Amino acid sequence: MKLSSSLSALCSLLLAAVASGAPQADPDLSIPSITATVTATSFTTFGSSSSVSASSSPSGTLSSHTSIPSSNSSSASLPSSVSTSTIPSSGPVASSTPSTSTQLSSASSSVSVSSGSASATVPSSAASSATFNSGAGTETGIIFPTITPESFTPFPVPSDTPIPSTFPETDPSSPPDVSDAGKVVPDFGQAWKTAYKKAKLHISGWTLEQKVNATTGVGWQGGLCVGNIPSIADWQGLCLEDSPLGVRYADFVTAFPTGVNTGATFNRTMMRIRGEFMGAEHKGKGVHVALGPMMNMGRIAQGGRNWEGFGADPFLTGEAAYETILGMQSSGVQACAKHFINNEQEHKRTQSSSNVDDRTQHEIYAHPFLRSVQAGVASAMCSYNLINDTFACDNDKMMNDILKREFGFQGYIMSDWSAQHTTESAMTGLDMTMPGDISFNSGNSYFGGNLTAYVRNGTIPESRVDDMATRVLAAWYYLGQDRNYPDTNFNAFKMLDPATNKHVDVQEDHFTIVHDIGVASAVLLKNTNNALPLKKPRSVVLVGNDAGPALHGPNGFTDRDGDDGILAMGWGSGTAQFPYLIDPLGAIQVRARQDRSLVSWYLDNFNLPGAASAVQGQDVAIVFVNADSGEQYLTVDGNEGDRKNLTLWQNADALIKTVADNNANTIVVANSVGPAIIEPWIDHPNVTALLWAGLSGQEAGNSITDVLYGAFNPSGRLPYTVAKNPADYGAQLITGGGPNDILSIPYTEGLNIDYRHFDAANIEPRFEFGFGLSYTTFKYSGLQISAVHHSDKTSADLESKWSAGKAAPISDGSSAAIWLHRPAVQVKFNIQNTGKLAGGEIPQLYIQHPSSAGEPPSVLKGFTDVLLKPGQTKTVTLTLSRYDLSIWDTVQQGWVRPKGTIKFAVGQSSRLFKLHGAVPL
Ligand code: BGC
Repeated sequence: MKLSSSLSALCSLLLAAVASGAPQADPDLSIPSITATVTATSFTTFGSSSSVSASSSPSGTLSSHTSIPSSNSSSASLPSSVSTSTIPSSGPVASSTPSTSTQLSSASSSVSVSSGSASATVPSSAASSATFNSGAGTETGIIFPTITPESFTPFPVPSDTPIPSTFPETDPSSPPDVSDAGKVVPDFGQAWKTAYKKAKLHISGWTLEQKVNATTGVGWQGGLCVGNIPSIADWQGLCLEDSPLGVRYADFVTAFPTGVNTGATFNRTMMRIRGEFMGAEHKGKGVHVALGPMMNMGRIAQGGRNWEGFGADPFLTGEAAYETILGMQSSGVQACAKHFINNEQEHKRTQSSSNVDDRTQHEIYAHPFLRSVQAGVASAMCSYNLINDTFACDNDKMMNDILKREFGFQGYIMSDWSAQHTTESAMTGLDMTMPGDISFNSGNSYFGGNLTAYVRNGTIPESRVDDMATRVLAAWYYLGQDRNYPDTNFNAFKMLDPATNKHVDVQEDHFTIVHDIGVASAVLLKNTNNALPLKKPRSVVLVGNDAGPALHGPNGFTDRDGDDGILAMGWGSGTAQFPYLIDPLGAIQVRARQDRSLVSWYLDNFNLPGAASAVQGQDVAIVFVNADSGEQYLTVDGNEGDRKNLTLWQNADALIKTVADNNANTIVVANSVGPAIIEPWIDHPNVTALLWAGLSGQEAGNSITDVLYGAFNPSGRLPYTVAKNPADYGAQLITGGGPNDILSIPYTEGLNIDYRHFDAANIEPRFEFGFGLSYTTFKYSGLQISAVHHSDKTSADLESKWSAGKAAPISDGSSAAIWLHRPAVQVKFNIQNTGKLAGGEIPQLYIQHPSSAGEPPSVLKGFTDVLLKPGQTKTVTLTLSRYDLSIWDTVQQGWVRPKGTIKFAVGQSSRLFKLHGAVPL
């Protein structure tokens, strides 16, 4: 179902229910220019930073392609003597591949013994001469895939017998309704089968070179988009474009709220609509593959790209990814689940090994990718890092065994930009290389001519190349992109080129969801004496640079690599151009005009005496502060992507304390990429309220204003834990490492990330995951639990095995099997609005396993959003599947029911439980 039409209904309901006359910012309002404090900026432009070639390394000889290129990266390099690609000994074959990016690599011998990360050995070239620094915290070697000539059998479309009520045959253009979440699992099997048939027929007349070209990008900046597959015969090729929050490097597009704000809404409808609108904008610009959503986990609070993702919990991230993908693909664009997998920090992202055990991988990091597959995602992107010593894009275990076999992923896997390291990766599951060249503009490729050569000399079977090209074409057919798809009408790298940029306006009224997610993601963390909502204050003073506009405009920093004015997205490739950016200063003045309030402001964060005198005698002082982060190829104020600390930026703590010392009604609004340490001032008696507003896109000022003034009753919930001390988090950023080191990142905390760690270690956080206040109050009652029985008995045998603690045998698509995911338990309860204002509540369900299961004390497995008028009661139903109740058994290699009673709690956060029960299965 298309949700855009229901959007305005939903949003007007939300707003009308809680407000009379939400203020609208006047875009013509003239805002005085300010002298902003730009803390620091790097003006490195996208892709311009140089790749550190292995030849600059002090030791060792080089093969011609040992440098790891920088994709948006400034510091990538491999240990100098490791050859990352070898042509099998049967020798070089002249390339006739017409790709623009093909070139043969030099021949060298390789000892090929096995395939796949589980049993792979280091290729002889690496084994004999690797000179890794093997000190503490670094790895002693990289495991590259090596292959012998072998046959290839494609993975099948997992057996799918649709069950109309719970597993209906579904086309991506009309996904199930949002209200069916948990009750209905879409079966995209038939749609994939039809698409595969068309794709196979399409490529049946292609030459080997043409099929290879469908897997090989044209090279960096070789086309209109950040990634481009060339046209082949009568097929037009593909435009691949960032980002997870809009169409990057294009004008007349919407700058949507970030992923982390979308997560903070805990609102599936909004997640779906945002996806639908983003998909429509990508399609309108002629983008075939939109490079999002991003679903890394926020394992460490300092992670530079956490704001691109949905928060620090796999279930929340998985649901947000699922809804986003269903929405995006319903609009006709291919979504891309990224970054697969364990790219949890930016520091040395191309030279670090995330060392993760099988259970943690399944339960935490792979889960959102499983949900993506269940949403029928068309593509996935393997990440820069290594996993257990094998690069993600070489990783047979992750790509073939988990994503394609166990999850039954039918689409194709592309590399992150220059994250490919070998041609052999074709056999370990990689289907497409992006942007195509080994390093930007190197003129050669691991696929292209090299892949052709591997096939010609019999090392890689042509059937595998058929499979790769089939997957790429199938995804295109699957989304109906063969029917009236718009031509690409923008130029990512020459945004003003009149010949290629048609400036097509794709915005429609998508600002509405930006505004609505902005209000619904603002988390009210403190509100003493009902300081909020504001009630026609006589005078308001706004303090802090974050309240106003940036001196150089909303797009003044390349890829947003600077912090000036209201912060509404982080920096890096996960960005889009702002069409405009409403700041709080502008929006609040419009409201003040209505209330006849006096408004003043003081935007200099560093003149504390000035701030102190500006706030004296004012009814209310609102201090706007922020914290920024982004992608590794850009450094801002010493933050190399990741955050160098968890403090707020630009003298914020001192500014807040100064204001609070001088004004008894100090309200803090924080626009932060993630958690921050707020201990210096949170208990200050004059800090009466704290609104954690995140990064909410182009309508930021309007959204914040609506929450401050009560036009919207806050319902946002923290998608991560705010600690009292950085050391309280269970995992930390790993720094250091020399130029040749492969940094070890041991995931020793296992399942205990974020709130799970605080619970397990009994550490009191400042504000826990899932927490957020409202201007009203809610009462929970009437818990009822029942097992769900199905009239069909298709999975009765597997279900009783599960009840006995036995895992179902691993097979194609076994982790996505319908028996595991269909509703098994229904949890019902009542929520009543016991306050005086209408408002939304976010009930959350946490599973509490028996201690023998080795699980964290509480794990989120259900949530929804309920809108209630004062006095109104509604019954809420949440469903749990057997998968939701299972743990991954590393010995049996399957999902099992732990022994003993499985309990659960329903409540308002990961700690504020209101109802308790036990699972009747
Ligand atoms: C990022 C990806 C992005 C790609 C293309 C890479 O550096 O990690 O998320 O999609 O660049 O811009």
